[in-house]
Amino acid sequence: MTLERLSLRDFRCFARLEAEFHPQVTCIVGRNAIGKTSLLEAIAVLLRLQSPRTGSLQYVIRAGAKGLVVDGFVDRRHLQFYYSAKRRKLALDSVEQKVTTSYLEIARVVYLANSDIDLVRGPAELRRRFLDFLGAQLLANYREILRSYDKALRSRNAYLKMYPSRPREVQAYTKVLLKFGHQLTALRAFLVERLEPEVLRAFAAISDRGEVVCLHYLHGATLDFERALQESAAEEERLRTTVVGPHRDDVQFLLHDQPADLFASEGQQRTLAIALKLAQAKLLATDFSRPPILLLDDVFGELDQTRRNRLLQQLPPASQQIVTTTSLDWLAELPAGRVCRLEEGPAPADRLIVDYPTGSRPVFRPKGPA
Ligand SMILES: Nc1ncnc2c1ncn2[C@@H]1O[C@H](COP(=O)(O)OP(=O)(O)OP(=O)(O)O)[C@@H](O)[C@H]1O
Ligand SMILES: [Mg+2]
Repeated sequence: MTLERLSLRDFRCFARLEAEFHPQVTCIVGRNAIGKTSLLEAIAVLLRLQSPRTGSLQYVIRAGAKGLVVDGFVDRRHLQFYYSAKRRKLALDSVEQKVTTSYLEIARVVYLANSDIDLVRGPAELRRRFLDFLGAQLLANYREILRSYDKALRSRNAYLKMYPSRPREVQAYTKVLLKFGHQLTALRAFLVERLEPEVLRAFAAISDRGEVVCLHYLHGATLDFERALQESAAEEERLRTTVVGPHRDDVQFLLHDQPADLFASEGQQRTLAIALKLAQAKLLATDFSRPPILLLDDVFGELDQTRRNRLLQQLPPASQQIVTTTSLDWLAELPAGRVCRLEEGPAPADRLIVDYPTGSRPVFRPKGPA
């Protein structure tokens, strides 16, 4: 699975960008705020129509622009996606697609970022997004069920907010919510069950100590969703919103039976976050017999050499890797590929990807005083 080319219009800080990628490793070096994370996010949006950073693509459109365009080639298949507040349009090999199924079959991705530590110690929303990003790639009906649940939830909440109250309409949406809620819970429980042994394995491979990691799926309603909804009626009435359900799901990580967000060291939390992403890559590689495209956003610079090497060894072999970095010190450790710079272009919000001179790696300067 190889992303060959990418072209962007009005995506985050990019008015325009054209990029080509090496079939194995492309390393993109750039200063802070030049757009490295945005570039990897654009690849995820192109390939999965979803950002691993945010639930709403609205914030991804360049400030002041109407809509964004991501366009690229994967294994010579042409993917195009336009998104604005009013309209979204996608095409595969220049044929407009009314449904996303064939388009989303083309490629699968795993996004590893420096900020992944927030998966362990940040809010539950990040863990739900992690599950959803994986679920939509791994399980055929996940995306549809999630969308149906979210739609029912939005409608139900809208009726809950109305004066005078609309109990019949709320009740009608309760049925839909329960139907898709049960399905979504079953899929998420299945995902967590499949992830756990892979997370354990990846964690052990990166950290050298025999640490015990467990994953617990925490239901946003008790196991009986219908009863939980009935029991929350008074609070629902007071807050005028649905207070229980899969939109409140969470995943708890335990290290030696203690909650990892409170108990684990920062290094252990970082290792756990990487293990989660490696587990994601392993499941995708296993189920589709081709490794996913790996987007690695500034991860290596944060790790010591031992863990960096272990992480490199754990990445699925033969996967295409697109790596961003601000720090050049460790680049010599990367397998062969293309090393380039992301820089400002001639127009204010244009960016260019520029190669270092052929055959040479960038010159590493020892860090001196600023
Ligand atoms: N919708 C948007 N429209 C315009 N600019 C945006 C938008 N969203 C983010 N930006 C800006 O894009 C710039 C690039 O952000 P990005 O996070 O990609 O940088 P980065 O190279 O990853 O930086 P760092 O090395 O600090 O992680 C930032 O200045 C950010 O404020
Ligand atoms: Mg960044």
